[in-house]
Amino acid sequence: MANKQAFFDYINSGYTTKGDFINLGAAMLEGETVTDAYVKIPLKTLNRHGLIAGATGTGKTKTLQIIAENLSEKGIPVLLMDIKGDLSGIAAPGENNAKIEERHKAIGFPYEAKKFPSEILTLSDQEGVRLRATVSEFGPVLLSRILDLSDVQAGIVAVIFKYCDDNKMPLLDLKDFKKILQYATDEGKEEFSEAYGRISSSSTGAILRKVVELEQQGADLFFGEKSFDPQDLLRIDENGFGYINIIRLTDIQDKPKLFSTFMLSLLAEIYATFPEQGDSGRPELVLFIDEAHLIFNEASSALLNQIESIVKLIRSKGVGLYFVTQDPTDVPDAVLSQLGLKIQHALRAFTAKDRKAIKLTAENYPISEYYKTDEVLTSLGIGEALVSALNEKGIPTPLARTMLRAPMSRMDILSENELKSLLKNSKLIPKYNEVIDRESAYEILTEKIETANKEEVKEKAREEKEAARKTTTSSRSISRRSTANPWIKTLSSPTVIRSVLGILGKMMR
Ligand SMILES: Nc1ncnc2c1ncn2[C@@H]1O[C@H](COP(=O)(O)OP(=O)(O)O)[C@@H](O)[C@H]1O
Ligand SMILES: [Mg+2]
Repeated sequence: MANKQAFFDYINSGYTTKGDFINLGAAMLEGETVTDAYVKIPLKTLNRHGLIAGATGTGKTKTLQIIAENLSEKGIPVLLMDIKGDLSGIAAPGENNAKIEERHKAIGFPYEAKKFPSEILTLSDQEGVRLRATVSEFGPVLLSRILDLSDVQAGIVAVIFKYCDDNKMPLLDLKDFKKILQYATDEGKEEFSEAYGRISSSSTGAILRKVVELEQQGADLFFGEKSFDPQDLLRIDENGFGYINIIRLTDIQDKPKLFSTFMLSLLAEIYATFPEQGDSGRPELVLFIDEAHLIFNEASSALLNQIESIVKLIRSKGVGLYFVTQDPTDVPDAVLSQLGLKIQHALRAFTAKDRKAIKLTAENYPISEYYKTDEVLTSLGIGEALVSALNEKGIPTPLARTMLRAPMSRMDILSENELKSLLKNSKLIPKYNEVIDRESAYEILTEKIETANKEEVKEKAREEKEAARKTTTSSRSISRRSTANPWIKTLSSPTVIRSVLGILGKMMR
């Protein structure tokens, strides 16, 4: 057996003694844990993002749970994307058993059962705090990226946002956006072309089709009021624990576009509203995205660019992003290269392709005299992983095969009743779940069009009446006022003048 003391020194050489950290478990040498050789993640480096990878059933989601609950305990709030619906158990204490007892004996500290303050959120009409954003908040750039629009189409979206801004017409939901799109090439054609240049109806038609596609993935539930304030993700409970916010996304697996729309809007909103963090030594918020391939697989290259740049920028706001996925290649290279923490669970070598992938994965880890990385990758047990973190100075810590601790909270979901009582005690549900549909672009435009139509009808009626009167009084001297010019006639009637100005007034407001 290799020298245990030398190995212990190797593991510890990675850390400085300053700063707080999370203890993941014990380092392993030749299949055995080494007493007191703990594998740690300094809080200071948690805004450097990370990856948790490995085959199905190897312990990725439990690793996510471990990090999340330890952050909560340190007073750092967390946001979890719960794709499979297996994370609600974080709100209940775990239970010790012989296996866990054995695991913790090997690691060297006793198992502790604990529950964590949790909030359930939802993007659809499932139970939980409703997450919504208005189209206005989303903004023309992001909306165009999400809809995968051409430059010309994106230009039109920008004009439409400008028009709504100029006319104080809130764009709240997709209904608003569709209405104005249609208005711009229909009733409002003249008005638009005068102010912004002509808009082609084939372009707005193409945009409309993309909006409908997004709607079909349930995005109409996401766009609207009341929009979610990301500050509400930062709550700390009365014991000083950070809240673990769990977004249930079980119904979103087949709706990747909605998922990426939401992710991007959330990250953009966080970026826009969180203050710049100095060197506070700890993150403000840590996000975990389980089954992360879902946001990347169907993303357009424009969207990927947007995600990449946000991943880069959001660090300075003290926000850490952790991607959990089976295969590291699910995550684009430009994102991968920005990840500070890498936790690799076991990989399976069934095919030649698998073995190639394992070789590649192994090459992305620091070289260690204690491990043959590619061999370790296929022999890791469940709840074991290769860990490469960053130390407080931003230098990678020595590669460590790690026996991970067991989650303190339940490794299973909440029962129906437990979930009900969690939802009942939520302070955010009353704040966000009321449906509001205040006057916005849709209503304003509908009214405007109706008023214009009414005027047209009135005008026609008046003309007919006039014509009738003329035939009956044809013997009398005809007034000099010309009816050939409808404009003159219209303006001569005081009631019409008022209502025409009314429409104009509304347009100008
Ligand atoms: N750190 C751990 N401590 C104890 N048991 C674990 C641990 N990690 C994984 N397990 C066991 O392995 C099972 C599968 O883990 P899970 O995290 O759901 O896998 P994955 O997300 O990779 O599919 C868990 O239900 C649990 O029984
Ligand atoms: Mg999982």
